Amino acid sequence: MRKPLVAGNWKMNKSVAEARELISALRPKLDSIRDVEKVLCPPFTALAAASTLLQDSGIGLGAQNMHWEEKGAFTGEISPAMVKELCNYVILGHSERRAYFGETDQIVNRKLIAAQAFDLIPIVCVGETLDQYESKLTREVVSTQTSSGLRGVSPDFAARMVVAYEPVWAIGTGKASNGLEANAVVKDVIRPALADLFGMEIAQTIRVLYGGSVTAANAAEFFGQPDIDGALVGGASLKADEFAAITKAAAG
Ligand code: PGA
Repeated sequence: MRKPLVAGNWKMNKSVAEARELISALRPKLDSIRDVEKVLCPPFTALAAASTLLQDSGIGLGAQNMHWEEKGAFTGEISPAMVKELCNYVILGHSERRAYFGETDQIVNRKLIAAQAFDLIPIVCVGETLDQYESKLTREVVSTQTSSGLRGVSPDFAARMVVAYEPVWAIGTGKASNGLEANAVVKDVIRPALADLFGMEIAQTIRVLYGGSVTAANAAEFFGQPDIDGALVGGASLKADEFAAITKAAAG
């Protein structure tokens, strides 16, 4: 049985003070929700404060990105060792990283290997753009992103990693995919690609989230799908009530 996971990707939002405020509002709401793994991913600058506020909460903390090298002359980058000091999760290959910062499947894979070395649970994002969707290339694109981006890790580590299927056209647009269509991509494309890499048994234990305009109003539609194990939430994770309602929906 795969335990549902709901992660909030705050993106480039919230000062340290604002992060403190949001976490204080979230704690009482999330603490009472059982049987769901909860993860918050604030910007780097708020991670230290967040990690203090989340101590003993059962709420995980994740970074939104990292470099693959442990240390060195990489101005402006944050290393996996630094992330590991504060976090237990890291988002890798988000479509905004791919679109605006040139991240390729090869770069995503290097970061994945680094996550394994530092025992960080990766939330690896895959998903097609609007052009690709309209050209009916979804399956091809998502299959390649999965098999190139997620290869080369041990079966043990693979079983613990998380994949997020995020159609790019659904991110931040208010135009979510629908449960059936998203489930079909996870079931027919992502899990088979994972099975090719790690075998069927492990592919069945890897949690696959849906992301893209998830709200309290549409979350249950996605969580009701057999192959969708939770959500990666952007905009709606910045509002305590909304994020708590989505998390509650994942508890069933
Ligand atoms: P959104 O973002 O929920 O604002 O669409 C999701 C994401 O980018 O992970």
